[in-house]
Amino acid sequence: MKIRKVVIPAAGWGTRFLPATKAVPKEMLPLVGKPLIQYAVEEAMTSGIEQVVAVTAVGKEAIREHFSRSPELERVLEQKGKMRLLEQVRLIPELADIRYVYQKEQLGLGHAVLMAENVVGDEPFAVILPDDVIDAEVPALKQMLEVYHQYGGSVIAVERVSKENISGYGVIKAEKVSQNVYRILDMVEKPKPQDAPSDLGIVGRYIINPQIFDALHKTHSGAVGEIQLTDGLKRLLKEQPMYACEFEGVRYDTGTPQGMLKASVSLGLKDPDIGTELRKYLRCLI
Ligand code: UTP
Repeated sequence: MKIRKVVIPAAGWGTRFLPATKAVPKEMLPLVGKPLIQYAVEEAMTSGIEQVVAVTAVGKEAIREHFSRSPELERVLEQKGKMRLLEQVRLIPELADIRYVYQKEQLGLGHAVLMAENVVGDEPFAVILPDDVIDAEVPALKQMLEVYHQYGGSVIAVERVSKENISGYGVIKAEKVSQNVYRILDMVEKPKPQDAPSDLGIVGRYIINPQIFDALHKTHSGAVGEIQLTDGLKRLLKEQPMYACEFEGVRYDTGTPQGMLKASVSLGLKDPDIGTELRKYLRCLI
């Protein structure tokens, strides 16, 4: 079945990036001049997705504004003869058909995905977490769609994680079925290094069957009152097969200042406008 929709949860508080995220949505923070959420939308579109369902919250109005037309700004850019910027600004609202749903209380990623239930309906869908930016020749979601079409079931993105960092991830127990595909047997959220069932950590890309909504409804909120997506996926795993795709590409956790800095340097060095100057600057610095 064709995957037509992507859910982009963007309602979180972004506490790891405070104070920057006190008034500015984390998803609007710039990575080499472009807000994080635009990377997510572009990845979805280049992967063949038709519709975006953005989950937002109070204080996140800048996201909707970013993807709307700005006639006054366009007029100013035209008057100033800044035609390249004008083209860029005009293209943003054309990128995707975006529906917005609200998460009134930030009760976790699983809860955010539940907010998209009515718009997604009874079809499999993708999820992209905008603070996980993946730099890849073939978009990570596109690589996962290939796995989905070959194996069916739900598909989760994973990457190799070092022992000292593994307790920050959901970790899968799995058996290898091909070069970069695993059949998932179980998942453990944030295990101690000695309890991790593998070194394959879950990152922010998913293709999920619609039965996840039932699973999330049945998932009780944990001690901190949050509904975790991993808990819903674990429940779904009891009923249907699930695969993990070890994608080719580099993932950056841009939800923290360190991760954003690494992503900015790496993508900045590749950028045709600033790469050369940035390389010179870094050489002088080191
Ligand atoms: P994160 O855990 O990275 O986001 O969730 P957060 O909660 O905003 O960040 P910290 O931990 O406080 O720094 C991944 C994605 O899920 C969204 C976030 O906006 C982010 O894009 N999210 C998270 C929601 O939409 N709703 C939630 O209740 C939680």
